[in-house]
Amino acid sequence: MIVEATATGAGTFYHGLYGGAVSQRRAHGKNRGAVGEQLLDPFGNEDAVHTFRSWIDFGGKLEVDLGFGRGGFLVEQASRTRESRWVGFEVRTRLCMEVMDRLNRQGISNVRIIQADARPIVDQFFPVGSISHFYVGFPDPWWKKKHHKRRIFSPEFVHTLHSKLTATGSVILRTDVTDYAQNVREVFNAHGGFDTQVVTPDELVPTDRERRCADFGLPVSRLRFTKKGCL
Ligand SMILES: C[S@@+](CC[C@H](N)C(=O)[O-])C[C@H]1O[C@@H](n2cnc3c(N)ncnc32)[C@H](O)[C@@H]1O
Repeated sequence: MIVEATATGAGTFYHGLYGGAVSQRRAHGKNRGAVGEQLLDPFGNEDAVHTFRSWIDFGGKLEVDLGFGRGGFLVEQASRTRESRWVGFEVRTRLCMEVMDRLNRQGISNVRIIQADARPIVDQFFPVGSISHFYVGFPDPWWKKKHHKRRIFSPEFVHTLHSKLTATGSVILRTDVTDYAQNVREVFNAHGGFDTQVVTPDELVPTDRERRCADFGLPVSRLRFTKKGCL
């Protein structure tokens, strides 16, 4: 489902990629499961896909936040960079609706929210060479071996990210799991098309999880994977 910030307040209709308009009340109410059902067919509403493709094809910077959670980074960063367009992915309905409400309340219109697993959608709906940055804040590490396939940074997805980035584009990872940071680094190194740099905290608006790590004094790894030849 693509959710469009319209700043029109209550009663706003969210236009789903997968099945048309979904009212805010329905999304919050006991029929919420029906919203999930509408995610099943990514080609169920070609008009919505067409509108989305036109919206991202605007000639300026396109930024993507993969798994925005409570949306602290997405909302603040999009508000600071109104000339860019932002696409946020999140699988959880409640978080999508909460962030949607905040965007509307604050009149931030340069964001589209896609409630879906980001991996196939990034692959299918974004043109090659179109995205300036992918931001991934505190991805789930999925420790158990049988769950490794759920990790967002699979070799296949890293290949997809490389192809979707602009020539000077990069992927920015933040995580409080040191071993996972190392694992992601190895996946990017194995791809061979990226250079890795450490990012300092003051370069980025913090995510919600990052603020909590700071409150508890937990260390955070911040890595930027830049397309080779762009340094
Ligand atoms: C640990 S939270 C971090 C949220 C936020 N980025 C932050 O740093 O505060 C990870 C979020 O990513 C979402 N997520 C996990 N896998 C995803 C996927 N494949 N596509 C979209 N969202 C995903 C989860 O639902 C969760 O809200």
